[in-house]
Amino acid sequence: MITIKSEREIELMRESGALTAQVLDLLEKEIKPGMSTKQLDSMAEAFIRDHSAVPSFLNYAPKGDPDVTPYPATLCVSINEEVVHGVPSIKRILKEGDIVSVDCGVYKGGYHGDAARTFVLGIIDEKVQKLVDVTSECLERGIAMAVEGNRLHDISSAIEDHARSFRFSVIENMVGHGIGSELHEDPAVPNYGRKNTGVRLVAGMTLAIEPMIALGRSRRAISKRGGWVAVTEDGKPSAHFEHTIVVRLGKAEVLTRTFLGR
Ligand code: MF3
Ligand code: CO
Repeated sequence: MITIKSEREIELMRESGALTAQVLDLLEKEIKPGMSTKQLDSMAEAFIRDHSAVPSFLNYAPKGDPDVTPYPATLCVSINEEVVHGVPSIKRILKEGDIVSVDCGVYKGGYHGDAARTFVLGIIDEKVQKLVDVTSECLERGIAMAVEGNRLHDISSAIEDHARSFRFSVIENMVGHGIGSELHEDPAVPNYGRKNTGVRLVAGMTLAIEPMIALGRSRRAISKRGGWVAVTEDGKPSAHFEHTIVVRLGKAEVLTRTFLGR
């Protein structure tokens, strides 16, 4: 069931969204080669709790999958061939040339915000830099379609078409989602699909749009039994950007945008 949020609910989501964006701004400022992914996680958790909020992902357990243990951290930090759900660790040290997807969820006032950015450490391969830039553009193109009167897969096809025009690969088995009082609500928001199909978008729907795009040919992200992290099938790098948005008439409202303009 897709819920339409009232302006009162959206006001609360603006607050959790803004806080989510602030966490990513903080991490963007602090992230450096030599740090562990756990250091980023501790920073994010402290910031969130200092702002009377709770990390959305911590202890999150997907419904109906007894194989997977509850998520043990505040952030997902996914490096290079890791697509999503990299679990922070003191043993995982960032290095120059890495691309690092940092995904953060914040729960405050009864509502979630969810956003991700892929950071680039130092000088990286030109092709990989292009992947990161195009994935960010895919998100913006998806958001541009999230207006009342359009249909759900207008978002999906805009993302897919842009990625494909650079011969990048869309990860198909991981999707965006509705968001609100639950982190994952209906509908699923795929990053591929045919335009002019899917449910009709209505003002007040709140969506987390999150393209995951890879070099190479992998169309799936695979995880080991019981593990969280999901990697490309061919070990090629993958990028990931995410915003929480509200469908509006004319132009979507982005709840996780910041002063950095991201
Ligand atoms: N942004 C991701 C998602 O919406 C992160 C979820 S991590 C989890 O699926 F631990 F909460 F699952
Ligand atoms: Co999400």
